Amino acid sequence: MSGLSQVLNSSVGKKIISGLTGLGLVGFIIIHLAGNLAIFAGAEALNTYSHTLNSLGGGGFVYAAEAILVVVFLFHIVSGLQVARSRQTARPIAYQKSANAGHTSKKSSSSVSMIYTGLVLLVFTVFHLYSIKFGPSSAEGYVTVHNGTEMRDLYRLVVERFQNLFYVVGYVLVMALLGWHLRHGIWSALQSLGLTNKKILPVAYTLGGVLGLALAAGFLVMPIYIYIALEPN
Ligand code: HEM
Repeated sequence: MSGLSQVLNSSVGKKIISGLTGLGLVGFIIIHLAGNLAIFAGAEALNTYSHTLNSLGGGGFVYAAEAILVVVFLFHIVSGLQVARSRQTARPIAYQKSANAGHTSKKSSSSVSMIYTGLVLLVFTVFHLYSIKFGPSSAEGYVTVHNGTEMRDLYRLVVERFQNLFYVVGYVLVMALLGWHLRHGIWSALQSLGLTNKKILPVAYTLGGVLGLALAAGFLVMPIYIYIALEPN
């Protein structure tokens, strides 16, 4: 076995993979939220944003980004499950060793919920893609013209979806769980990657909390705003 594969298979290696892929997914979530803010600017802004993105490099850019995203997602899920399992197996020893380590015990207790919030986010992502990304397309009548260019009317689809109160409540609950997952995940990733020390740890912990809350809040207002303020055209 080579040195690299030995490291990747070790428990430290799995934590590094979990941390790196987690931070990669946070990057995607920030970009996704920024793009989605176009909803507040109206149909032309959202549709043109999506159309431009999906046309980059003749569609190749999005395919490449999606392929990377799928790989990162899979590695994150597998390494996350492995880290959770090894933590469970090692817990009795860890408790004896770190009886007085405040942040270590805090980590152990909040990380228990990571596996559950993570699984909810996985189910949500499959449903979300089915409902919106692979939902009705131009061919099914969700088509519009902006500035002389024909494109998918994604705005109509999103607004229609969030006229349903069950959708709105479901999304709001899942976005709250996303915030909870990120609150723990961000600082834990920074720690796993060795980017923290005793001094930086409280800063990383606060940063994780604030960023998790901000991202969850940003996603959370969209369904509520659409339900209250918008109507399908
Ligand atoms: C209120 C919250 C959200 C809204 C309104 C929303 C909206 C959208 C829309 C409109 C698309 C289609 C984009 C396009 O085809 O150009 C999309 C795609 C996607 N969304 Fe979301 N999203 C939300 C939350 C999330 C969250 C929390 C995640 C991740 C956990 C997520 C993951 C994805 C993924 C992976 C795609 C496919 C990206 C691609 O392949 O181009 N979304 N979303």
